[in-house]
Amino acid sequence: MNATFQALNDPNVAFKALHLRGIRPYGEGPPVDLLIRGGRITALGSDVDGDGAEVIDAGGLVALPGFVDLHTHLREPGREDAETIETGSAAAALGGYTAVFAMANTDPVADNAVVVEHVWRRGREVGLVDVHPVGAVTVGLRGEQLAELGTMARSAAQVRMFSDDGFCVADPLIMRRALEYSTALNAVIAQHAEEPRLTAGAQAHDGELAARLGLAGWPAVAEESIVARDCLLARHTGARLHVCHVSTEGTADILRWAKSQGATVSAEVTPHHLLLDDERLATYDPVNKVNPPLRTGADTKALRAALAEGVVDCVATDHAPHAPQDKDCEWSAARPGMLGLQTALSVVVRTMVHPGLLTWRDVARVMSERPAEIAGLRAHGRPIAVGEPATLTLVDPDATWTVRGDELASIADNTPYEGMELPGRVIHTLLRGTLTVHNGKAST
Ligand code: DOR
Repeated sequence: MNATFQALNDPNVAFKALHLRGIRPYGEGPPVDLLIRGGRITALGSDVDGDGAEVIDAGGLVALPGFVDLHTHLREPGREDAETIETGSAAAALGGYTAVFAMANTDPVADNAVVVEHVWRRGREVGLVDVHPVGAVTVGLRGEQLAELGTMARSAAQVRMFSDDGFCVADPLIMRRALEYSTALNAVIAQHAEEPRLTAGAQAHDGELAARLGLAGWPAVAEESIVARDCLLARHTGARLHVCHVSTEGTADILRWAKSQGATVSAEVTPHHLLLDDERLATYDPVNKVNPPLRTGADTKALRAALAEGVVDCVATDHAPHAPQDKDCEWSAARPGMLGLQTALSVVVRTMVHPGLLTWRDVARVMSERPAEIAGLRAHGRPIAVGEPATLTLVDPDATWTVRGDELASIADNTPYEGMELPGRVIHTLLRGTLTVHNGKAST
């Protein structure tokens, strides 16, 4: 058990008081001071009396509520050669995250109480972020038989999000049953929208480049047809549907319609679908292989607009570490997925903040408040105000940095941003008043 964990979870451990000097909440107004005691914000303003608290000179850093990632692959149990809960938690904290949702496609699959409780406990032991396991919708992610959602919901891990991510719950009857069942558990079903009959053997976006390279295409309609169906099922059942990694303009149009009809549907977009497009295929480098695939430039543009508009609710990383033997190989043999936790904020700054599509207050909404709301987390995504938990991310908006895969905290190094200079840097992250990242370094 490490020191951070003890401080965060042992009610008898006295929290260190911290005095953050010169922060700018939501990047607005002149710098103010913020005092933290007992894990909570106890004072905020221009004349805060620190009274012996440890001072951190924040020199104009933008303060945001700690980020919440609804879509992370931590690979433990089963593929600890690519990522562990410990390394993934460090990557998350360094990216400004204070809570992550760990997808169920581990080995063994998180389709039962034993596995979800293991993930939850290990996350607490590491103590850098709150790790919430996502439970599988179907046994073994096979799409045939509902997993025991109720047992996972009632377990110590208190699972409230279920997903077969990596695979689509393709059978409409199983999806309908999952949605119906989830309402009684106050849970949300997160769908990886991919009609498998339309993507058999697919390797890349079904466009001109894939055709030229002889790669089997993954058409937009394979995503859109499932999203349309599931929005109708959500409306029919009154259940909560969350659409994972929206990748096409057409999906955004369907979501806009479904929301206008009162369907309880939310959606996420990944940083890579906001920045990268299928022109990347020309390199033939499998680091660019991801599911759903990188789409067209027009799609990235439409997704940025949909996120700004709120039709797409939030950003989620789909952080997908892969060991070198699964990535540094020919395109068709490579696994889909890319790292995302430590680069997410910078990509959002570049694609959304710098072009004027989002303010810092909006960044708080799409990276913290909305994801916390969708997942039902009550202690994350809170306002920066007296009495609230000191669960915060402090960002240098003017810093730039160059991405180097081998310098990231993940075990795997499959970042598509290798060598790219990106804006915005997380300097400190606080989870309930404890620094999990201090001056850009994760606590151990
Ligand atoms: O690119 C992806 N990688 N998409 C998924 O849906 C699964 C993920 C993974 O687990 O590697």
